Amino acid sequence: MPKYDRNFTDELRERLSIVDVVSRRVPLVKKGQNYWGCCPFHNEKTPSFSVNEEKGFYHCFGCGEHGDIISFTMKSENLDFKAAIAELANQAGLKMPDYKPKPAAQIQREESYYQIMSGATDIYQNLLFSPAGENALNYVRRRGFSDDMIKKYRIGYAPKNNVIANKFVNVKQDNLLATGMCRRGDYGMYDFFRDKLMFPIFNAHGQVVAFSGRSLDGSEPKYINTTDTELFHKRKTIFGFNFARDAIHRANRSIVVEGQIDAIQMQCNGFPETVAPLGTALTDEHIAILCKANRNIIFCFDGDGAGQKAAARACDIVMPFLRDTSDVKFAFVTGGKDPDEVLKSGGVNAMQKIIDGATPLTDFLWNLANTEFNVSTPNGRSQAEKFIRQKTSKITDAGLRNEYEQEYKQRIFNAWHKWKKNYQNIPKINLPTVDDITKNTVIFIVNKYPEIAERYGDFLATLNLNFDENVPEMQMDEKSAEKYIVSLKLQKYLAHLQSEKKDLTSKLLAGADVGTAINEVNKKISDAQQKIDALISM
Ligand code: UTP
Ligand code: MN
Repeated sequence: MPKYDRNFTDELRERLSIVDVVSRRVPLVKKGQNYWGCCPFHNEKTPSFSVNEEKGFYHCFGCGEHGDIISFTMKSENLDFKAAIAELANQAGLKMPDYKPKPAAQIQREESYYQIMSGATDIYQNLLFSPAGENALNYVRRRGFSDDMIKKYRIGYAPKNNVIANKFVNVKQDNLLATGMCRRGDYGMYDFFRDKLMFPIFNAHGQVVAFSGRSLDGSEPKYINTTDTELFHKRKTIFGFNFARDAIHRANRSIVVEGQIDAIQMQCNGFPETVAPLGTALTDEHIAILCKANRNIIFCFDGDGAGQKAAARACDIVMPFLRDTSDVKFAFVTGGKDPDEVLKSGGVNAMQKIIDGATPLTDFLWNLANTEFNVSTPNGRSQAEKFIRQKTSKITDAGLRNEYEQEYKQRIFNAWHKWKKNYQNIPKINLPTVDDITKNTVIFIVNKYPEIAERYGDFLATLNLNFDENVPEMQMDEKSAEKYIVSLKLQKYLAHLQSEKKDLTSKLLAGADVGTAINEVNKKISDAQQKIDALISM
């Protein structure tokens, strides 16, 4: 039996939002921390039924009913446990495993693990404020952590001696070993973390499931994390998610940074919707958790080579999660800094600029293909095209996949092929040809400002010019050049409309019923004229 079966109910709780589940039955309104609605389990007219997204619980202050997504589904749909699980699995898009209840022994064991982890967190925190932790406390304060932050994130200090092994002598050794907090050596149990600044890692419900310990003496590795345990799977754990969940709903997006200190500093300095993967590259399970909360994601990576690689990887992983309602972007912190350092040196504004300047996924993937491959050669173009196709084929939403494919087809044509092709098979609207001065100007602009050429490629192609022709140099900045092209486009369009109006007028005079059509054309003509006027006065 696959390993996840045992944890299937947890998996459901993780993947489904209780607000979504309850909202199917009960309209909810957010007030303060909780969502409120009229209780489905007793008769009432004013809402006393509250739902807490973060904790995953509902509670009725009228009749006292409370529980989680499973009990809600059982009671509201009148289903037994197994049927409720099946219903929720369906909502989560998960395959229903052969259900086996968690054995009592396992529940007891896990309870003991949580107690050990929480106890260890308290011990470490007390030590941070004790003489043994003086060094660590100075360090963490120097890094911009206030005492409130230290308390909120339950940061602590693991001393050089075996404090956990000693304090938990009465706990079953197997349980202590299973949490990853201690190891067994020739001389008995010893602590895994020693002389480290300790960052607890929380699960989505805010329980401590692991630690990340930062070295304080410059020794490598800089961070060591609890290895995977029954409670902690680093592939599925996103640092900061328990704190960020509400903010992600509010901000309607999440921000993903690379390190946990970055995540904490971001959360405390204006970006509470920030999370970080943990000591591992991003996985699709991380993305699944984020997408359950919200499908708008800004990945924020270091601007160095490693950051670029990480971004490319994120782009690859995120493709199946894209929907036409989701917005995925990539921001890069340049100058060898990470978000923590940016916040420290430039403040929230500097960070805001980086976030605001994030590149949309479509452009990021396009830039990636253009830099990874030598698109000035046929071989390179072929490789780049395959690369893009391989990525877009991962989009599961068929309509969206089709749009992406069209988008890149057009970009490939505009950027790599257009000026090399003859245009015989491009459908042309009946446009008058351009005079010599206009022709020279357009050819000059296309060669001088390739981005304009790309932006207005479709229109430019209809002009049927030879863009390889040599033309005289001109004095024209990019803005004026763009204005020129737009105005030309509008003028051509206007000419097209006027000839249409001429046709219609002849028909009208010959007795055809085209009054409405003429009015429509007149409206378009005045719109186009207005746009041209606006352009001139700009
Ligand atoms: P960085 O090396 O960028 O560290 O690693 P950082 O977050 O800026 O750390 P500070 O600011 O020097 O304290 C980014 C992330 O990669 C993981 C950690 O999660 C870290 O936050 N990492 C890094 C490890 O797990 N082990 C390491 O040895 C280094
Ligand atoms: Mn850092």
